[in-house]
Amino acid sequence: MCGIIGILGSAPAAPRLVQALKRLEYRGYDSAGVATLEGGRIERRRAPGKLANLELELAGAPLSGVSGIGHTRWATHGAPTTANAHPHATDKVAIVHNGIIENFRSLREGLAKAGHEFASETDSEVIAHLITDGLDNGLTPEQAAIAAVRRLEGAFGIACLFAGEEDVLIGARKGSPLAVGIGDGEMFLGSDAIAVSPFTTRVMFLEEGDIAILSRARAKILDANGQVVTRQIHVFSGAAAAVEKGNHRHFMQKEIYEQPETSGRTITRYVNAFDERVEMPDLDGVDLAADNAIVIGCGTAHYAGRVAEYWLEQVAGIAVETDIASEFRYRKPAFGRKSFAVFVSQSGETADTLAALRYCKDQGVKTLAVVNVPESTIWREADARLPTLAGPEIGVASTKAFTAQLSALAALAIATGRARGAISSQEEGRLVRALMETPRMIAQALDSEPKIEAIAHELSQARDVLYLGRGVHYPLALEGALKLKEISYIHAEGYAAGELKHGPIALIDEGTPVVVLAPHDSLFEKTLSNMQEVAARGAKLILITDSAGAAAASDIAKHLILAPACDPFIAPLVYSVPIQLLAYLTAVHKGTDVDQPRNLAKSVTVE
Ligand code: AGP
Repeated sequence: MCGIIGILGSAPAAPRLVQALKRLEYRGYDSAGVATLEGGRIERRRAPGKLANLELELAGAPLSGVSGIGHTRWATHGAPTTANAHPHATDKVAIVHNGIIENFRSLREGLAKAGHEFASETDSEVIAHLITDGLDNGLTPEQAAIAAVRRLEGAFGIACLFAGEEDVLIGARKGSPLAVGIGDGEMFLGSDAIAVSPFTTRVMFLEEGDIAILSRARAKILDANGQVVTRQIHVFSGAAAAVEKGNHRHFMQKEIYEQPETSGRTITRYVNAFDERVEMPDLDGVDLAADNAIVIGCGTAHYAGRVAEYWLEQVAGIAVETDIASEFRYRKPAFGRKSFAVFVSQSGETADTLAALRYCKDQGVKTLAVVNVPESTIWREADARLPTLAGPEIGVASTKAFTAQLSALAALAIATGRARGAISSQEEGRLVRALMETPRMIAQALDSEPKIEAIAHELSQARDVLYLGRGVHYPLALEGALKLKEISYIHAEGYAAGELKHGPIALIDEGTPVVVLAPHDSLFEKTLSNMQEVAARGAKLILITDSAGAAAASDIAKHLILAPACDPFIAPLVYSVPIQLLAYLTAVHKGTDVDQPRNLAKSVTVE
């Protein structure tokens, strides 16, 4: 999504802000800006395009203030113009923002009625006006920032600079990471340790809901309940900052917790939240108004494709075929006349998937890659690509890449629906609004970790585990089983819940753990019957559901893991979190090498 940096320094801030933003270029952006205090007044320099354009602006109109904030923006609400570039400001406060403000429209309307004038098409600008509203009503900067954050809905990180307040910098984390850098008589705030690494090796990572009130001498951290807390200070060398685990024990855990941001970054790459419609990049001849779609991948990427199969058929009404790459080309598949093929891959180097891509190209089928690593082989050889913006995924078990793949594939399904005339603009808007809620819903799903921790301890003793799901949650059951077996080495199988009675139910013994993914949707009652079937035979049911599902099945479930009630369209993204946490925490109890499980490689470049 975006990069954030803030500095309370002892030297001119502008060049240091640009230096930090250069460390954040890996996140992708299409405009940039800085704001500093010049004699107490807020001064901004912003430019579309690359940082070189911002440097030209600064060369032409230098800034000398030693307190400032900076930002690299990937356009979400509104085009990548100077007016939409951050920082956004009034005469009293400048802010930079990373994430999604879901309720920006209603906030903007209310502020406009109160006389606030907006200069951009962004959701972010409402933050500056909300804080100004508080200041106008006599609140201190700290009080105004806290009051504003409380009114924001969504997943975001922000930094605020106040006119006339040379020694105040305020940051808030709600879904998108923020790190505090502690200097010698200086203080820094950034999206991650990389951002502040040019200035200090001492870094604190804010936790969900934290607000940081910074001065050069002190970092006051308030938690989500407004209590003053302390956060661990980590020490990183510059290089180590690039691959740090933050406050997490493993990269896999860190990457599970990055998903509100990485899913939001990917979703906002493909939707225009202002107009509530999807916006695909140039697909270079891949015609979505086709009759057939083929979705190919391996492992977790294949399961993302299996989820997309439901979306493409239900939203776009297109015939879909999915297959694992290692089988696909040896089938000698027949292709419909008007087809396109989608290749899902985190690494972009998986040999089986690459071979399937080349096979399709040889057959004259247009190819579209959903891929995480820029310039990877699959990225380069596909006719077109939908990048997933998960950033580097270090854990061998794929987590944030999976939900980023789902984010891109969900946008693709909506775009295909529009291209085929299968959905109205109203339905498109509804689906886009649902997608925009994903980061917040994923952040809420992460709150179930303590509950899952207790269940994982019990599950770590199991020899065999079954995962069940119906509809779009069937491929999610397959993914949940894969997650568990690949990092805890416990045998696990995913099944369509309706399929159990055709044989696999013979596996059920007294105490067999059965994990069921079942939001209270149109298929819940049927899945409830399957749960009763296995419970009657002694299974230990672990039900992942929402509050309505829990109320209906609490008598037969041994354990309940609650996910937030959400639109069925985004449920696969949200329900990915509990299955990832269950596998991760079980593996931690087993003491396996979670980030580097035995026998596995991060990218399988042999067939
Ligand atoms: C995922 O947890 C596994 N490590 C594995 O199944 C992986 O998804 C598969 O090898 C495909 O890799 P790719 O996404 O890089 O193509």
